[in-house]
Amino acid sequence: MVSTIDLSQTSRRYLPPRQTSTVSPNQSLLPITAQVSSADHLMVGGCDVPELVKQFGSPLYILDEATLRATCRQYREALQRHYPGESLAIYASKAWNCLAVCAVVTQEALGIDVVSAGELYTAIEAGAAADQIYFHGNNKSLEELQYAVSVGCRIVVDNWHELRTLVTLLGTAAAPVPILLRLTPGIECHTHEYIQTGHLDSKFGFDPEQLEAVFDYVSQQSGLACIGLHAHIGSQIFETQPHADLGDVMVHWLQKATQYGLPIAELDVGGGLGIRYTEADDPPTIDAWVATVSQAIAQACEQRGVPLPRLICEPGRSLIGSACVTAYTVGSQKTVPDIRTYVAVDGGMSDNPRPITYQSVYRSLVANQMSSPLSETVTIAGKHCESGDVVIQSAALPALEAGDILVIAATGAYNYSMASNYNRVPRPAAVIVGDGEAYLIIRRETIQDLVRQDCLPAMLGKRVGSLNSDVDHAVSE
Ligand code: LLP
Repeated sequence: MVSTIDLSQTSRRYLPPRQTSTVSPNQSLLPITAQVSSADHLMVGGCDVPELVKQFGSPLYILDEATLRATCRQYREALQRHYPGESLAIYASKAWNCLAVCAVVTQEALGIDVVSAGELYTAIEAGAAADQIYFHGNNKSLEELQYAVSVGCRIVVDNWHELRTLVTLLGTAAAPVPILLRLTPGIECHTHEYIQTGHLDSKFGFDPEQLEAVFDYVSQQSGLACIGLHAHIGSQIFETQPHADLGDVMVHWLQKATQYGLPIAELDVGGGLGIRYTEADDPPTIDAWVATVSQAIAQACEQRGVPLPRLICEPGRSLIGSACVTAYTVGSQKTVPDIRTYVAVDGGMSDNPRPITYQSVYRSLVANQMSSPLSETVTIAGKHCESGDVVIQSAALPALEAGDILVIAATGAYNYSMASNYNRVPRPAAVIVGDGEAYLIIRRETIQDLVRQDCLPAMLGKRVGSLNSDVDHAVSE
């Protein structure tokens, strides 16, 4: 009798449906191009994942161009479909800011949200137009504000200190600088407390009680043109109601601001739509999220008799999260009898700090054994000197051997951007894949790169040297 394998009990279970044109990428665990080759290997963007690892090394971030572009288009088209006024999706580049990603989203006609001079510089170098860049942050330095003004991007002013610094900096500038004001909307949503930002006890934005005084002050500044209001309520959110409520709150403040004569033409509702990291996650589609936000703003405007503002949204995670996988190579294993088996990979908390920071749960598959039965449950450990460096606590996998290629799904957002050199581990390379081609977008760090910023003062060099030479000296005397 021929034994048939139940493919739903193999790594294939995470593959997207064959017909991907209607898939909302944030609901797909793997990039929309993921397939299995005749060699039983995972393919992404038409590239064989184990081959990519051979060519570019391990660990490796693999970014699927088709998924990223499809997601950009879904946001753009959903806004056009559901919002009766002008709109713009801007990519919250904190999710993954690098030249190639900024270039793709710019080509897809999205704007870019940046939060530091570094992100701003990268966006500009990638070709983003300054008036499509929105500069956020609760403690921009004077140098960052000067830089933002000099490039002509939109500045999202967060607090009184920033507002006054900007006014002093601008003096009697010829043309008013376009700003938005960030408000704390007082909306709570269900997500990890570290990534909630819209509740009142938040470090971001002006409190509702301060807002009218802020409007009054800004209306008297000839150097500032307050063209919009901004709020962001949190990240990895699965409910749509908080964003519907946000629409109403923002239109309320838009109406108030116009009473102070402010030329508010934009409402920026932030980002926050969640993605699927495991089968248990059930985020709304991009279309449903955009529809909720659009209808909330349009309805509130109609009720209050306010002209429709330009609607801006700032997706980060849901724009890039599902477009990337991380490939690792399996190394050592350790079985603690009756407790667990640890399978160690060649990366961990330095390339993906989310499990240790937020207890985030990921799914894994074996790129060179896509049809092998998932026969064991193991803990995937990272390589760092920290017991908590665990990539996945409990992963169903086939029997693994050193050299197998383990893939973690949905690592596009807040992985590379939060990566570190903990334990002096070099950051991995990243490639973009599409139509069977792979291009390097981030070079792998070398151990020489790691000491590039280190300084060894001559005095220390001398001392190290002189210890030796003292010994030499003593011996030779
Ligand atoms: N706009 C603003 C002002 C933000 O602060 C954020 C995210 C976004 C947009 C994009 O939110 P998203 O669409 O990605 O949910 N490191 C955390 C996430 C921090 C989110 C910070 N702000 C994580 O790994 O889960």
